[in-house]
Amino acid sequence: MVGHTTAHWLAVDQVADLVLVDIVDKMPSGKALDLLQATPIRGIDVKIVGSNGYKETSGSDVVVIIAGIARKPGMTREQLIDTNAGIVKGVVEQVTRYSPDAYLVVVTNPLDAMTYLTYKISGFPRQRVIGESGALDSTRFRTFIAAEVGVSVEDVHAMVIGAHTDKDMVPLPRFASVGGVPLNHLLTQERIEAIVARTRRGGAEITELMGTSAFFAPGAAIAQMVNAIVRDRKRLIPCSVYLEGEYGQKDVCIGVPIVLGGGGLERIIEVPLNEQERSAFTASAGAVREMLGALKL
Ligand code: 2OP
Repeated sequence: MVGHTTAHWLAVDQVADLVLVDIVDKMPSGKALDLLQATPIRGIDVKIVGSNGYKETSGSDVVVIIAGIARKPGMTREQLIDTNAGIVKGVVEQVTRYSPDAYLVVVTNPLDAMTYLTYKISGFPRQRVIGESGALDSTRFRTFIAAEVGVSVEDVHAMVIGAHTDKDMVPLPRFASVGGVPLNHLLTQERIEAIVARTRRGGAEITELMGTSAFFAPGAAIAQMVNAIVRDRKRLIPCSVYLEGEYGQKDVCIGVPIVLGGGGLERIIEVPLNEQERSAFTASAGAVREMLGALKL
């Protein structure tokens, strides 16, 4: 569901020609054809095909890796690690063979561990391996802030860093603003804390409602990232990337604010965290490291 929703958002914005790949027999071809048949109505001139193999993806500029199982109600993203590590490994081997120059956007959960795995086994520079974490968590955070303050979502800026897990995500309300007005001028501490808690469980809340994990917002967040790369938009979006000392962390993939453009990860922005934010981020990195141990790389 996340894959075809991503394709839908990308097609609507005419970002690129698209190839949908899945192992389920013929299914991606059906989805691609369905989406293609919507294009005359919307005046969308992109090519969209589906395949059960990787040949058609040869020479892709960007490859989005979503393959894997999704969590069910009551499960954490971390519980998916064994199954999804095997799937992602196989996918990355194919992708790097057919598109050795591609930018890889990783979406499979547990996100930070799968981004790390992709970075390690692809052998690609860190600029070309970027995990979708903060892009998604931040749009949830912005949604809840806009609703609470009673303003357009367009005027809300806010970011979430750290691990893409319910427990260790680090929303940063101190850096949030509405039309340039700091959030703490508009909401009480108590309301802000409630929004932070809801953001952390943003994915879990949907999984409990639907019985499976989210796809509209994840797809839109991926499309935002792909758009930034393909059109060299230089967007400042928190994403999971491989750290080499930034934020006091090394040899780990975790969400931090980056400039995302035609060169992929172009810059990591180090914002001055206060003591409480820094200790939450450090604990978050510790939780990711625990997951990395389970990868047995
Ligand atoms: C989410 O948070 C699936 O991890 C994804 O919805």
